[in-house]
Amino acid sequence: MRSRISLIPLLCLASLASAAAGPETATDWSADKAQVLLGKYCNTCHGGKASAGGFNLASIAAADSLTSKQTEWNHLLSRVRNSEMPPKGVPAPTIEDRQAFVLWLETNLRRSACAAGPAPGAWPMRRLNRDEYSATVRDLLNIQVDASHGLPADGAGGEGFDNAAETLFISPIHAEKYLEAAKEALEYGAKDPKSRAVFLIAQPGNGTTPEQAATKILDAFVPRAFRRPARPGETERYMALFRKALLRGDSFDRSILLTLNAILISPDFLFRREEPNAAADPVLASDYAMASRLSYFLWGSMPDKELFELAEAGKLHAPATLTAQIERMLKDGKSREFTERFVSQWLGTRELGRDIKPDEKLFPEYYDAEIQAAIRYEPVLFFQEILAKNLSLLNLIDSKFSILTNKLSKFYGFTIKEATQQPKVLNLPEGTHRGGVLNMAAILAVSSYPQRTSPVLRGKWILENMLGTPPPPPPPNVPTLKDNHAGSPALTLRERLEQHRADPTCATCHNRIDPLGFALENYDVLGRWRTEEEGKPIDASGQLPDGTKIAGTDDLKKALLDRKDIIIRNLTSKMLGYALGRGLTLNDSCTVDQIVTQLTQNDYSSQTLIKGIVLSMPFRYQPRARTATITSKKP
Ligand code: HEC
Ligand code: HEC
Repeated sequence: MRSRISLIPLLCLASLASAAAGPETATDWSADKAQVLLGKYCNTCHGGKASAGGFNLASIAAADSLTSKQTEWNHLLSRVRNSEMPPKGVPAPTIEDRQAFVLWLETNLRRSACAAGPAPGAWPMRRLNRDEYSATVRDLLNIQVDASHGLPADGAGGEGFDNAAETLFISPIHAEKYLEAAKEALEYGAKDPKSRAVFLIAQPGNGTTPEQAATKILDAFVPRAFRRPARPGETERYMALFRKALLRGDSFDRSILLTLNAILISPDFLFRREEPNAAADPVLASDYAMASRLSYFLWGSMPDKELFELAEAGKLHAPATLTAQIERMLKDGKSREFTERFVSQWLGTRELGRDIKPDEKLFPEYYDAEIQAAIRYEPVLFFQEILAKNLSLLNLIDSKFSILTNKLSKFYGFTIKEATQQPKVLNLPEGTHRGGVLNMAAILAVSSYPQRTSPVLRGKWILENMLGTPPPPPPPNVPTLKDNHAGSPALTLRERLEQHRADPTCATCHNRIDPLGFALENYDVLGRWRTEEEGKPIDASGQLPDGTKIAGTDDLKKALLDRKDIIIRNLTSKMLGYALGRGLTLNDSCTVDQIVTQLTQNDYSSQTLIKGIVLSMPFRYQPRARTATITSKKP
């Protein structure tokens, strides 16, 4: 269990109707009503003299406790939201009451956390994750191999990304692997003249002593590797290592590579850490810190020469410089690193071909390297195009173009003359029910089972990834969908799920989930258009909890466009979490609010989002020392 604070009330979508009015939509809940619920379901173990787990209701009873006891309330919120409290086996509130309580609490905690405006929040030290390590070594040594192949994979944390500080610690197994990885990368680079020109910039030769050559190399290498100027005596310590190796009889090359290896396993290289802020107030992050914050956000790698130079000149905190750098950085091919990592994790398409694989016997068409790559990269390249051209983010919901190869365009049933073997921006033919991410094969496949589509999984995918309001996990002992057995009349998936929804216990969740997914039933597991299933025509109609009738994907996209601000808010929180590399706090939601406002005023242009994040308080500032560490409790 991780104590993550979702910024959007779980059930602002309880009825999709209220969601349209925004997350602030009130419920009829009040502090008094909340206390009644707590008294009824929690008191036996957390009231009077009983303080199970060290928690007593008296600690949050005061009228101003939402402001004065935010930590306690946050804890309570996550336990109740995750259905962990009250524990199994004792009377519990109904699902509706639980959700209404959670909504009330989130809304009010958010309000009080934002009362004083945005605060910078923690900037925890974090290890370079595997992809960042690979890209950093690549840029530092100018080599074209993936130095990270021997490193263990990273888990996800924070807002669901693998660059979250919470998960990036280092284990003894890591340490050994890093030693190996660095050695291999350096030896590879030392053999390539193009790499040598970047990091082995001096040689003992006519008139240059080994000592002089090594000093020149280290003076340039240490600040690049540590992404800041060398500290007094720092380079000298590595020189001592070099001298020792040389004295032992090692060649110049061997001695200097050994020294560089030591630098590459130093915590100053492996970790992104900033000088702590000793002041009592938040301060602007240093220019060097900003160079790294920017480059790891938009390139997933170390700063380049231009960023280092701007940092040295003390110019990297000026908003105008930052804005110009964002534009430059998004044009650079390295930004592909960012879009790929962000999009594939946000939309869950990273799992395609890993944990999620369409059945090979039923869907042999997927088992073609070209089509797999085209499917996988469609959402990534699409997002890249939106960013590079500063297009509206609403294209994510519906668009007139996509990025297709010849094969993928045929796979979708199009005949587009301009299509080529390479992915290319193409206008979608009219009436093809494509456009936006929802109708892309990658998304339709990761929200299916390997053998069949599941409106439930697709509905859940929309609630979770687009709207940011994941449904609570299904209760235990829910029956699985039985396959039709011989003899009984064949029921379609819809008929079977309708039977379930007749039960009010199931309906609380499934009324919200299933209609969204049914609207996509015209797409098979691989996202190809179909009009029949098991001999019966596909019925893609449904009714949202607020009564809106939708029939198929075009209506669904209209309904989502009506709720665009929720989708944009979710995207903003996701990207802010990615940029900060940590889970968001309630206070961060003030920053999210500000950026969403900017977006609505700027036609949702994509670069407004990136600029809003980079210019935000949490991205540019360091909190005062006291809060500079991660406070979230790990189980
Ligand atoms: C049958 C007894 C019981 C009931 C009823 C109960 N709890 Fe708990 N609670 C526990 C126990 C035992 C722990 C300590 C073990 C744990 O953390 O899971 C605990 C721990 C907690 C914690 C603390 C933990 C932390 O991580 O610091 C919170 C907050 C909490 N409960 C909230 C609630 C709320 C809110 C309710 C009512 C909606 C509730 N509990 C109902 C038994 C109960
Ligand atoms: C608290 C919310 C909730 C409730 C209540 C709930 N479900 Fe679910 N159900 C879900 C979620 C979420 C999933 C998707 C699970 C996943 O991610 O694999 C699901 C999945 C399912 C599936 C699998 C769908 C498929 O395509 O295979 C079935 C069947 C199902 N639920 C039936 C029921 C029935 C029957 C009930 C009532 C007894 C019920 N559910 C109650 C949330 C709920």
